[in-house]
Amino acid sequence: MPVGNPAPPAILEFLESDLAPVTPTGTPTPSWVFLAATAEEQFANAAALAERASLPGCTVRIAYSIKTNPDERFLSLARSKGFLAEAISQLEVNKALACGFHRDQIILNGPGKWWPQAVPLAEPIQAIFCDSPEELERIARGLNNGGTPPAHVIGVRLRAPHIASRFGASVWSPAEFARLVDLVRRIPEAVSFGCHYHFPSSALGIEQWWSLYHSVLRWARALDLCSGIRVRTLDVGGGWFPDDFFTDFAERLAAAVSSAKRILNHLDDVVIEPGKALVQPAMALAVRVLEVRRDDARADVRAVVVDGSLAEVPVSHLYPHRILVRDAWTGRWNPLGKGHGTILGRICMEDDVLAHGVKLPRTIRAGDIMTICDVGAYDRSMAYEFGRG
Ligand SMILES: Cc1ncc(COP(=O)(O)O)c(C=O)c1O
Repeated sequence: MPVGNPAPPAILEFLESDLAPVTPTGTPTPSWVFLAATAEEQFANAAALAERASLPGCTVRIAYSIKTNPDERFLSLARSKGFLAEAISQLEVNKALACGFHRDQIILNGPGKWWPQAVPLAEPIQAIFCDSPEELERIARGLNNGGTPPAHVIGVRLRAPHIASRFGASVWSPAEFARLVDLVRRIPEAVSFGCHYHFPSSALGIEQWWSLYHSVLRWARALDLCSGIRVRTLDVGGGWFPDDFFTDFAERLAAAVSSAKRILNHLDDVVIEPGKALVQPAMALAVRVLEVRRDDARADVRAVVVDGSLAEVPVSHLYPHRILVRDAWTGRWNPLGKGHGTILGRICMEDDVLAHGVKLPRTIRAGDIMTICDVGAYDRSMAYEFGRG
């Protein structure tokens, strides 16, 4: 169950300036608040991290995962930092183009990448990673029939052994691996070959993610050696929580890129596709207290009902969201610490509980404003309309 953690001081600093315009009278609730300084910091730190890990002859590039939050302000930040845009549908390709990305700054991934209708090809995009042997076969056939390459890099998503995933081409059995080798050999020289995998460290655990990384390097090398087609791009997907991305991942990335270059001698590019690591802390949800509940008039606050709900915070159960309350007297935003209080959503559903185990201030009143932080990723992009008639 979600528990509101106290905000780390550095982040609170950004939040205070970002949240300055949020006031009880001037801010409608529930409403999304774009945290501009936090967003700038996240994207700038990611750009620096990629630059630090790049090697002569092997560039580390960030590709922002559009689906995580397609808000144009994030796309524009990504573009301004020189990031690529990672799309999973033609609608997302169109969105990236509309936001000023050039075609060769776009990567296409996933099983539905040609949906709903392929954007006509003026020139190739940067990379396409096939999600299955069938897709790779289709693309290789098109190229061998004289078709224009749809991308500079044509690659395949690998599903390593023992990874239960619906995505990618399995390399588990000798027959599956041999089929893949045969398909990779059909990729013409005019395009580069790349390997991709994505399995969230947020689901797998950090050490397992790194062990998967090193395993994928070996599978990519095997594919390279057996097919004679050189792996020039390695795309490792996203799936990192913000704190892990800017600590563990950032610390180990340079060594990981060196290993990749040692194992895959012809590697030119390493691509990372973060989504939530960049944008999760960069939006908050302003909500208003509808009712304060106590066991008796002098007791601590047991629960508050707010006008936000699971419809605006649909992944509230996946990780703790920091929660701030605006002190009505001082106007300061105070993080909620641990306690015995509960924040209930407005929806008449048992599971609409936004936080358990928080300490609610004794002075809190109906009409006060709170912000639920860390909603900038899948909370925002998967939010839905509910209970609005
Ligand atoms: C291929 C790929 N890349 C990047 C991402 C972004 O993941 P996250 O937002 O967890 O970093 C996803 C998310 O599912 C993905 O499937």
